[in-house]
Amino acid sequence: MAAGNREGTGAMDTHEQGYFTEENSAEVVISRMDKCEDARLKEIMAVMIRHLHAAIKEIEPTQDEWMAAIQFLTKTGHMCDDWRQEFILLSDTLGVSMLVDAINSRRPTGASENTVLGPFHVDGAPVLPMGANICLDGKGEPMLVHGCILDGKGSPLAGVSIDVWQANDEGFYDVQQKGIQPEFNLRGKFTTGVDGRYWFKGVKPRFYPIPDDGPVGQLMKRLGRHPFRPAHLHYIVTKDGYDPLTTHIFDPDDPYIHSDAVFGVKESLMAGFEPVDDPVRQAEHGFEGRYFDVEHDFVLIPAVD
Ligand code: BEZ
Ligand code: FE
Repeated sequence: MAAGNREGTGAMDTHEQGYFTEENSAEVVISRMDKCEDARLKEIMAVMIRHLHAAIKEIEPTQDEWMAAIQFLTKTGHMCDDWRQEFILLSDTLGVSMLVDAINSRRPTGASENTVLGPFHVDGAPVLPMGANICLDGKGEPMLVHGCILDGKGSPLAGVSIDVWQANDEGFYDVQQKGIQPEFNLRGKFTTGVDGRYWFKGVKPRFYPIPDDGPVGQLMKRLGRHPFRPAHLHYIVTKDGYDPLTTHIFDPDDPYIHSDAVFGVKESLMAGFEPVDDPVRQAEHGFEGRYFDVEHDFVLIPAVD
């Protein structure tokens, strides 16, 4: 058989767009997916290819620059294991996690807003009686956190599960300091009673860096970005029949409140951290000196099927 006259060369299928050129690159690649039977996958890949090709045409990378991008993604993958998820960190620091969350948790005005889950939630936190102290090592400035879980009409919700976790006053979660902090330090699960109220003791959180010892941290440094998250407490608030709420409350006076490395801050999630020096209030709540009072209510809305 003569070269160039191989079997199988023949007429173009109707969906085929011809040979690849710089001008028609995206259309040619997209046309190859014509037989894909998964309509959603086909739509997603077509959008991704269109935008990726448009970005490459705008950037016009050199071969070295494209290789650097591939190496960055390779290092990001190598950094991942059961515990460390560098791709989620990349998504967080590019604002994509918050955007996906915003799209998937559109709620009516007045309902509590979601924010990022983050990598430090663990299943199996101790179930504690209301009022318990989640700080197991006595370190840090004492804090009382309290509020009410309400429905959209302002009525208290009973039987709501509240899973809370926070970093210590040095900015580390227990899972980042195994052998230094007690297991399940600064974590607990509480259930509301008929009054819908919750209260527990913890320690005043402080800002901390996201894990920045990998490719994402290096990229942020090169971009002139800091890795810090403003002081916050994490919550997962759930009740059957209601839209689950994954959120934080933030200290509005934190130096990083306007520049969260993962874009998780929302105006509605600010909570005051009020220092209490009144001995009567201190004694009433079992503190022996200054504590910080933090009050924040949450509003759940019915789940939509
Ligand atoms: C966190 O708040 O625990 C967190 C969120 C996103 C990335 C890293 C940490
Ligand atoms: Fe956090």
